[in-house]
Parts: sequence; C-alpha cells; structure tokens
Amino acid sequence: MQVDGVQSHIPVLPEETIEYAMPWTCGAMRVIDGTVGYGGHSSLILKKNPEALLLGIDRDRGALASSKERLAFAGNRVQLTHGNFSTLAERAAEIGWIKVDSILLDIGVSSPQIDTPERGFSFRFDAPLDMRMDRGSRLSAADIVNTWSGEELTRIFREYGEIREAKKLANAILREREVEPVTTCGKLAEICEKVLGKPGRRTGPPAPTLPFQALRIDVTSELDELEKALESAVNLLNPGGRLSVISFHSLEDRIVKRFFQEMAVSCKCPPGYPVCICNWQPKLEILTKKPVTASADELAVNSRSACAKLRSAKRINN
Ligand SMILES: C[S@@+](CC[C@H](N)C(=O)[O-])C[C@H]1O[C@@H](n2cnc3c(N)ncnc32)[C@H](O)[C@@H]1O
Repeated sequence: MQVDGVQSHIPVLPEETIEYAMPWTCGAMRVIDGTVGYGGHSSLILKKNPEALLLGIDRDRGALASSKERLAFAGNRVQLTHGNFSTLAERAAEIGWIKVDSILLDIGVSSPQIDTPERGFSFRFDAPLDMRMDRGSRLSAADIVNTWSGEELTRIFREYGEIREAKKLANAILREREVEPVTTCGKLAEICEKVLGKPGRRTGPPAPTLPFQALRIDVTSELDELEKALESAVNLLNPGGRLSVISFHSLEDRIVKRFFQEMAVSCKCPPGYPVCICNWQPKLEILTKKPVTASADELAVNSRSACAKLRSAKRINN
C-alpha cells in the first residue's frame, strides 16, 4: 500500500494503542517506538502530544526510510535509528536518554514486508525463501531449511509453530532437499500442503501458515529479542510511564502476559511462607486485564488486525 507515494502500513488498534501509549496531550514526554516500521503509530503519538519527543527503532532499513518521510512533519522531535529493539536502552543512551515515559512495541511483520515477494515471508508468492527483517543479517529461512538437521527442524516446527506433525514435516523437507535445495516459498508451501493439508477442508488457516510462522520466529529470533526488550524496557521507564506491546501470535502474547504478571506481583516468596522475606517491589501495574483486540469496524477495513493483541502496563516505584 502507498500513502502520499510512501510505502505504507495501516497501524493496528490505532486509537486503543494511543490511549495507552500516549495518554498525555501535552508535556515534554520521551517515547520510544521500538518497531517504528512505517511510522503509523508514531505519527499518531506525535500528533496527540505536540511536545512529545520520539526515538524510533527498526531493524529494517527500508521501513526506516519510509517512516522518515511519514514523520517529517514533526521535525527534530523525531530521531530514527537502525537496530534491534532488544538494545533499546543502549539506543536511548546514545541520544542521552536515561529514562523515558512510554515504550511501544508492535511486533511482527509489516504489510510491506509480507506483501513484497522478494522479502520471502509469504507463501502467497513463489519467491526466494528469505524472511530476514534486517537484510544484512546472516541467516535466512532457506539456510535453515537446507542445512539444519531433522531434529532441529522438528524442534522449530514444534516449539514455534506448535505443529503436531512436526517430525513428519521435517522428514519431508529432508527428502525433498536430497533431490534439490528448497529455495523458494512456493516449494516449501507445496511440501507443507502435502504433509499438513486436509483435502476438502474450508475453514482454518492454510497448511503453510504455522510452518512459515515457525521459521520466521527462528530467523528473526523474535521471542528472545522480545524477552530481552521487556526486561530492559521496564528499567528504562519513569514512574507512571507506559509499556505497551502489540503481539500477533500466542507465543509472543504469552511472553508479554507472563512478564507483566511477574512484574506486577507484590511478593515472590514460595507459597506457604508465613511472612514475606523477599523484599520484592512490584514494578508494573497492569492496565489491560485482558488483551485489547480489534473492533468489528477495524476488522472490516484491516483484516491484519484480526490476530492483534495489545497489552499495556504502568511503571510503579523506582
Ligand atoms: C508491525 S510492523 C510495525 C508497524 C508500525 N507500528 C507502524 O504503525 O507503521 C513491525 C516492525 O517491527 C520491526 N521489527 C520486528 N522485530 C524487530 C526487532 N527485534 N527490532 C527492531 N525492529 C523489529 C519490523 O521490521 C517491522 O518494521
């Protein structure tokens, strides 16, 4: 999709996200958008609070170039940097920010990434199998599919795709790659269909959905990066500051939910201790008891919001 000639992406849960990530309409707030992407959420944040300063991070240089154009209206209130959100504290320190007031992560794949065949994320195109968000990084999905052992492939499909027939799928890939390397999304999708496809079934996601998700999680180290980012984010926030995360599949959402719960408990002593000896101070107050999901109106105009779940929490104490 193009907006004003700039490659674009419709931000999911726009109003809900801004309500949590930028509840203030004035005041010189410091905000980190760790997945600035195409600048959708960031532009709403900067417009809602004309005094807010924003540091936008993304590991995709193409996305950063688009957000630079989309956020140009905010002038020097915006700084953009190429990097991984797991290093957000270091990126903030580089511009002299020791504490910030809001951190947003909208994790997952953007529309331009998924809709550009050469990026190799989607089984809808018969393009080279790639899936790197940072095209300078070493390992692509094709490297994994063609060089990793059957056990490693089985583990990826089981852990990151929660696929019951993980071993069967891994074995089918091993057989195919003995004949010739599996280098395209189309070839891999065909193998997934053969192993996991249910002839005649009309409901549920297409057979390649979960294997492609599993490979993407491994190529991008999404879950590890998310865990590191959450730890670092909570220490970077000022009291009253917000941490908001939008995730798109249950593995990510589970990590966010558990992290928030762990940071919100008032005591970490083993159950049954007569008095508290842990001295644990809760660091977060959970603002979204249940994840916020898209309204019917949003679903009607942006089908990609169907899987989005927003969780937000407020930093307490020091
Ligand atoms: C769903 S898009 C974000 C869209 C953005 N909120 C907007 O409104 O335009 C996700 C973005 O996160 C980036 N991304 C994913 N994992 C990342 C990571 N570990 N570090 C930095 N950026 C990451 C992707 O490159 C992509 O541009």
